[in-house]
Amino acid sequence: MSNQAIIRFEKVTKQYDEDPPVLNDVSFEMERGRFYTLLGPSGCGKTTILRLIAGLIEPTSGKIYIDGKLVNDVPANKRQVNTVFQDYALFPHLNVFENVAFGLRIKKLKKEEIKQKVREALRFVNLEGYENREIKEMSGGQRQRVAIARAIVNEPEVLLLDEPLSALDLKLRTEMQYELRELQQRLGITFVFVTHDQEEALAMSDEIFVLNNGVIQQRGTPTDIYDEPINRFVANFIGESNILKGRMIQDYLVEFAGKQFTCVDGGFNPNETVEIVIRPEDLEITPPEKGKIQVKVDSQLFRGVHYEICCYDQQGTEWIIHTTKKVNVGDDIGLYFEPEAIHVMRIGETEEEFDARLEAYHEQGVANEG
Ligand SMILES: Nc1ncnc2c1ncn2[C@@H]1O[C@H](COP(=O)(O)OP(=O)(O)O)[C@@H](O)[C@H]1O
Ligand SMILES: [Mg+2]
Repeated sequence: MSNQAIIRFEKVTKQYDEDPPVLNDVSFEMERGRFYTLLGPSGCGKTTILRLIAGLIEPTSGKIYIDGKLVNDVPANKRQVNTVFQDYALFPHLNVFENVAFGLRIKKLKKEEIKQKVREALRFVNLEGYENREIKEMSGGQRQRVAIARAIVNEPEVLLLDEPLSALDLKLRTEMQYELRELQQRLGITFVFVTHDQEEALAMSDEIFVLNNGVIQQRGTPTDIYDEPINRFVANFIGESNILKGRMIQDYLVEFAGKQFTCVDGGFNPNETVEIVIRPEDLEITPPEKGKIQVKVDSQLFRGVHYEICCYDQQGTEWIIHTTKKVNVGDDIGLYFEPEAIHVMRIGETEEEFDARLEAYHEQGVANEG
């Protein structure tokens, strides 16, 4: 696996002056030809990672490899990497052709070759025939595509995209999500896409890195991250969640909301305090006596596809439910959920600790069986 990594960070830290590090001991690998998304709130270090990959800034410590080669001392223009910036950074006084051709002219390619490469790049982003248009005559979506054409015309191995869709309205944004995903598959190169929008990340990525405070909290496929959030931050950031305090009585038995429930998690200390995640769509509304938990409906909102219902249980804990059923404010209802819908998290656990705990737990399970 490591010999096919296109990008590798080894214990990379970035610190400005005496401030706390903006990236703290970050290690990861990215494989060739996949779509990666760096997801996290503003200021968590996403752009910093892109700038380090691009060679626009240097790490304070740690090693960065591209294509197996240490690049700490390799300048930006010698890396097989191109960036699409948030504001596109197009030249307003140059037309579409000249914007895309700019880098090739600097490289002093022959005129015919430039023409052919630019045409090819514009064809890739569906802008054939727009060569002579002025940038100011182009719509937001078209400017976006010019910026992408300008980046891919250099045939980079890695394309870095820093929140490229955040300036677009919702409809165009959704269209561009499809377009970018499709473009990545056609080009077959590695995309590192930055967003703070979790839905965008879930829709587009092969793999998501969730960042907070300069640390990768969790990495995985969209379904991994959605179904198995590693801690409260990830559970909160990705989708809506009911997060409750609980206590792990023993393997497969957990207590929360004043009751005990069968679950599918293990490997905790007896009576360990834990946090429980139950997704709103995993809660089913039943008559009160048939539910595992009894709640009173406080409010109901229609969200287009489903209702979002807010309830409180006898202990005053809030429960959010997504359902196509309609209820009435003030109704007493039951909530049913499967053992698999209960997701138990150790408080403050990192991804490494989680992996180590699961491994130890499984080894112990095998030993007990043998
Ligand atoms: N040149 C700089 N000097 C000092 N602090 C910086 C500099 N560049 C970025 N930072 C800080 O690093 C943190 C991460 O920034 P950034 O990577 O741009 O976040 P994101 O892209 O996730 O919003 C922020 O707190 C930001 O203020
Ligand atoms: Mg940023």
